[in-house]
Amino acid sequence: MKRAKTPAPKHILTLALPRGRILDEALVLFAKAGVDLGAADKARAGRRLIIPIPEHDLRVLIVRDADVPAYVEHGAADFGVSGRDVLEEQDRDLYEPLDLGIGRCRMVVAEPADRPVDEAAHVHLRYATKFPEITRRHLQARGTVAEIIKLYGSIEIAPLVGLADRIVDLVSSGETLRQHNLREVETIMEISARLCVGRAAAKLHGDRIDALISQLRAVCARRPRSCSHRTALPMTSSGAQPPRRRTRSSRP
Ligand code: PRP
Repeated sequence: MKRAKTPAPKHILTLALPRGRILDEALVLFAKAGVDLGAADKARAGRRLIIPIPEHDLRVLIVRDADVPAYVEHGAADFGVSGRDVLEEQDRDLYEPLDLGIGRCRMVVAEPADRPVDEAAHVHLRYATKFPEITRRHLQARGTVAEIIKLYGSIEIAPLVGLADRIVDLVSSGETLRQHNLREVETIMEISARLCVGRAAAKLHGDRIDALISQLRAVCARRPRSCSHRTALPMTSSGAQPPRRRTRSSRP
């Protein structure tokens, strides 16, 4: 008599989530998509950083937002959620199949309201920012030559104490700029969080990740400010859409 084959255990997919506001919004989004990551929420309180979610063959890593792309690119996580600011700054080899529409804010150039820069004066300008690469590309596109000073936080004080003429930073409510008497000069980009997928994971587990993307996309479509594809995606034989590598040409 033939013995029934035991099904091979399912690969546990690893999802990297950033701590902070994006995590809260991501947990709500995943729950609506039928993937309850409530255990990750509870574990966070207990300071656990690797959280198994056996009912969905998943485990969640809670990491710093700026570290999500590294985990995903190197395959330590199969996929993750990361802000556009972090993804654009690091420009890693990742697929970005879905804009989740959460963690919305803007990246702006700002300067002291009472000491605006005279761009025509061609003085040597200094920009302080946590995002030197984005700033460099922005200035290059405008043909502006300036020095970029990399900081790690509290950017708003840089022009107030003579470290920089302008800053490039994230703005949400605008309260921090107001408190420091800074005015917005221009918006560089709108920011929201995206799903990012590693190359190996897309190849090996594309169908499972695609299924999850479809569920998330359906939830997003029901929201007032829905999320969107970052890119047009090629179809697989199964009809599911695999993630595609982000390319410079696909950026808005
Ligand atoms: C972010 C950003 C601004 C602030 C903007 O800082 O860098 O400072 O939030 O928010 P608002 O427009 O609602 O005032 P974060 O809290 O990440 O701290 P940081 O100073 O370490 O960057």
